[in-house]
Amino acid sequence: MIKSKARITAIGSYVPKRRLTNDDLEKMVETNDQWIVQRTGIKERSVANEDEFTSDISYKAVKNLMERYDKSVDDVDMIIVCTLTPDFKTPSVASYIQAKLGIRNTGAMDLNVACAGFTYGLYVANGLITSGLNKKVLVIGAETLSKVTDYTDRTTCILFGDGGGAVLVEYDEKQPSFISSHLGSEGEKGNSLYSTNLSNTMNGKNLIGNGNIVQNGREVYKWAVTTVPKGIQSVMKNTSIELENVDWFVPHSANLRMIESICEKSGFPIERTLYSLVNYGNTSAASIPLSLDKAVREGKIENGNKILLYGFGGGLAQAGLLIEWTI
Ligand SMILES: CC(C)(COP(=O)(O)OP(=O)(O)OC[C@H]1O[C@@H](n2cnc3c(N)ncnc32)[C@H](O)[C@@H]1OP(=O)(O)O)[C@@H](O)C(=O)NCCC(=O)NCCS
Repeated sequence: MIKSKARITAIGSYVPKRRLTNDDLEKMVETNDQWIVQRTGIKERSVANEDEFTSDISYKAVKNLMERYDKSVDDVDMIIVCTLTPDFKTPSVASYIQAKLGIRNTGAMDLNVACAGFTYGLYVANGLITSGLNKKVLVIGAETLSKVTDYTDRTTCILFGDGGGAVLVEYDEKQPSFISSHLGSEGEKGNSLYSTNLSNTMNGKNLIGNGNIVQNGREVYKWAVTTVPKGIQSVMKNTSIELENVDWFVPHSANLRMIESICEKSGFPIERTLYSLVNYGNTSAASIPLSLDKAVREGKIENGNKILLYGFGGGLAQAGLLIEWTI
């Protein structure tokens, strides 16, 4: 990674008020709190109202960021919304946010890399700023997964939740946030985790599903716990920093057992790992900013902390970033 000229300068988040607990799910499918907690670590999730969409959650996450940021966002020159659940195929959620915030001179685009979306979004933001193309990029990770979840399928409906987080990335040559990165994609494994759209055929196979999320949980689990530890090594190989000197690890909040296994294989202590799944479930592109903002509000993250972010999931795709926190 070439020397970054971009710094993360602000953060905000929002989750819908409506809660869906494991007890609620017990009334909907054949499952129980003990099974869900033991297999996933998840206790409850946020669920959007029927008339609440990814754009609404994104907007509220940005409003929360603006309340905590002492400058204006009027000069944002690129808006990236990372999501697999946009309100519309077109226009983008990013254009909706641009209009709602009244930002005039900006680009706007959605980026879909599922659960790796937010780390891909940050990677792109850093690239745009470091190359000199942009000066101030708003990166949002937001989802309404409840709208593509089959609440009769106990293997998926226990996992997913709704929410959003937003960060600002600005030009700053003196105190850049981005240290190193590693990206990957294995499209040949795409049918392990998908939501159909215009086609029902992938890699020559007919898929079941009607737009809801379908997954082979075991395959995704096995892939994540072998791929992410190797990816972490690749991120660290590109720096002079040792893994033991990383202050916090923020993996995608998919499943606590998966995170424990990744930590064990990487030799990283679970105590220094931040996740948002216990109360929010798996929120895909929103999970990493939600974990980060939760830790910021709890006063866990301090200026100068080295943080390893790792997004992974649908694609199957992954992106890890080592950053320094200097908000
Ligand atoms: C989904 C997941 C929790 C299932 O856990 P698992 O340990 O693999 O469980 P299995 O699918 O092997 O099922 C074990 C048993 O529990 C049952 N079961 C599945 N879901 C259940 C539920 N919600 N409640 C109770 N029992 C359940 C299965 O039917 C199976 O029963 P059987 O042994 O009688 O056939 C796990 O595979 C997982 O988390 N995978 C990763 C998913 C993920 O994170 N996806 C997003 C990635 S970004």
